[in-house]
Amino acid sequence: MSDKKFYITTPIYYPSDKLHIGHSYCTVATDVMARYKRLQGYDVMFLTGTDEHGQKIEEKAKAVGKTPKQYVDDVVAGIQDLWKLMNISNDRFIRTTDDYHELAVQRIFKKLYDQGDIYKSTYKGKYCTPCESFWTESQLVDGKCPDCGREVHDAEEEAYFFRLSKYSQRLVEYYEEHPDFMEPQSRLNEMINNFIKPGLEDLCVTRTSFKWGVPVDFDPAHVVYVWVDALSNYITALGYMNDKYDDFEKYWPADVHFVGKEIMRFHSIIWPALLMALDLPLPKKVYGHGWLLLEGGKMSKSKGNVVDPVVLCQRYGVDAIRYFLLREFPFGSDGVFSNEGLITRINSDLANDLGNLVSRSVSMIEKYFGGTLPEERQADPLDDELIAMVGGLQAKYEEQMEKYAFQNALIEVFKVVSRANKYVDETAPWVLGRDEANKARLATVLYNLVETIRVCAILLTPFIPSTTPKIFEQIGAGEEISQYASAGIFGLLPVNVTVKKGETLFPRIDMAKELAELEADRKAKMEAAAKAAAPKAEKKEEAGVVSLIDIDDFAKVELRVAQVTACEPVPKADKLLKLQLDDGMGGRQVVSGIAKFYTPEDLIGKKLVLVANLKPAKLRGVPSEGMILAADCGEEIKVLFVDGAIPCGSKVR
Ligand code: MSP
Repeated sequence: MSDKKFYITTPIYYPSDKLHIGHSYCTVATDVMARYKRLQGYDVMFLTGTDEHGQKIEEKAKAVGKTPKQYVDDVVAGIQDLWKLMNISNDRFIRTTDDYHELAVQRIFKKLYDQGDIYKSTYKGKYCTPCESFWTESQLVDGKCPDCGREVHDAEEEAYFFRLSKYSQRLVEYYEEHPDFMEPQSRLNEMINNFIKPGLEDLCVTRTSFKWGVPVDFDPAHVVYVWVDALSNYITALGYMNDKYDDFEKYWPADVHFVGKEIMRFHSIIWPALLMALDLPLPKKVYGHGWLLLEGGKMSKSKGNVVDPVVLCQRYGVDAIRYFLLREFPFGSDGVFSNEGLITRINSDLANDLGNLVSRSVSMIEKYFGGTLPEERQADPLDDELIAMVGGLQAKYEEQMEKYAFQNALIEVFKVVSRANKYVDETAPWVLGRDEANKARLATVLYNLVETIRVCAILLTPFIPSTTPKIFEQIGAGEEISQYASAGIFGLLPVNVTVKKGETLFPRIDMAKELAELEADRKAKMEAAAKAAAPKAEKKEEAGVVSLIDIDDFAKVELRVAQVTACEPVPKADKLLKLQLDDGMGGRQVVSGIAKFYTPEDLIGKKLVLVANLKPAKLRGVPSEGMILAADCGEEIKVLFVDGAIPCGSKVR
């Protein structure tokens, strides 16, 4: 075993929904890096997994009538299948519901508590329910959650706190001493300006408001909340404070954590502080990559604009998708995904440039030499530039790979692929092939081409790992000369190499036809989804015909208790009242057609039920965010008032 170690991680994914192409982005990048390091002879530990606790999961499971564990088991199985499909070579997969992890989290928590780094107090703050995050006033953006932009509400509960503030100075010193700790560099400035400078506050690390989490063993009303549980996966998966594994000493500290930019804060501030408290070394680097966006913003299930990686892999092949993800977008920046962009990239780089180079080089060796090159050679100055480029390629590629600049590394390889295609045009083998006297020159040209292909294929292996073995086979490169170490030397294929034509590596895609099919597919899916959402059965009841819905359908409606804080008629609309509601989430305005039955005074101070997730609308030009529940009673409408003791914002189910 080599003594060169490389430990790399992805974030652990929330198994709350199916993963989309944005999630695959980070995992593919991590996989490429892991494969690259393995090729270089490193002993690699590539960890990924799932982050399975929390209120959101608890609620989702309840909505579909499953236990949280049943729910996550199903979703996690799908995530693992996706990684298999995408050829992800992780060495370990951690689930935060694994027994060994839960035990280790309890031990970590206890250790920090015993040494005074965790203490019990009361939390008062602004809470974002969908993100399960407490925020300080200064972190809010326009009074809303800085991550998702939604309303936050005041919340208070007894909780345990981690003394994050205590580590503020040490963190700043660490960043100064390790300027490469965060990348890209812009992330460091973001962290300092947005979080460190305003002052770090102690971090609430437990919850009592839900149960689905690791219980604090010495105070079981509390569950360890999100970050202590999730972040410690990077060390528990190596056996820290548990007996399941024993390679913590070997692999820690991690060489790099790849994370999306929105969770940089947790990885570059909270995680290092926790490690300092545990007296452990810090990861060498945290790389905050950009987001894959669609026109119109970030992909999210709630926006209905997710791109399914399974569909893409089935249509275009896994390697094409892997290549596209890392070639199209600079890793540190956001990028906009489009089907046109994907098809263009596949056609130009993979089908036209690489695929065509392989297929024409091999075909010409078959055509002119029956598949085996003769030994005679005749060099020409025309060869020099290509040979020099191939000779220098590995170093240029490595320079980029070491900076996690995947896009640039691929650009370097494809510069050589393009140069080789140009070399074909310059040398015109089909002209040389007309005259037996040019045999040695023709053999030299074709040898240079397959040798160029060999070197490029080695360097492309981390990106397109199921394609390059096919290339090696076609160009007759045996195992020994397909290794990473042999990418730095030109001329390793045997002089009398034998090639073998194989399948087309990347078939060209007909853009217009493909886009039409994708659109038809999208429409069919939308119709199917609409059908699925329609009532599944109808049942006659004595009082009439009632459409039955699934519990999932009901769970889509978010009902909450709200209090009327102000109310007035809408001018020139005799049926409408404009209500201001305290919904426990920052307040909102709702317009309701009840003016004939209630005066504003009837309503002010009353508590009622609000449909909180209705799309905003305008009634007679007045914005309304939601709807209040009322009963039709013959000619009359009666608002459903509720017990004044129920707190605003309480969910109704
Ligand atoms: N569970 C936490 C991570 C805990 S790590 C100790 C989490 N999970 S997540 O499933 O919401 O996101 C996982 C990763 O996917 C994050 O790094 C996030 O940035 C990334 N992405 C989610 N959507 C993405 C895009 N549209 N584009 C790129 N990455 C995206 O956060």
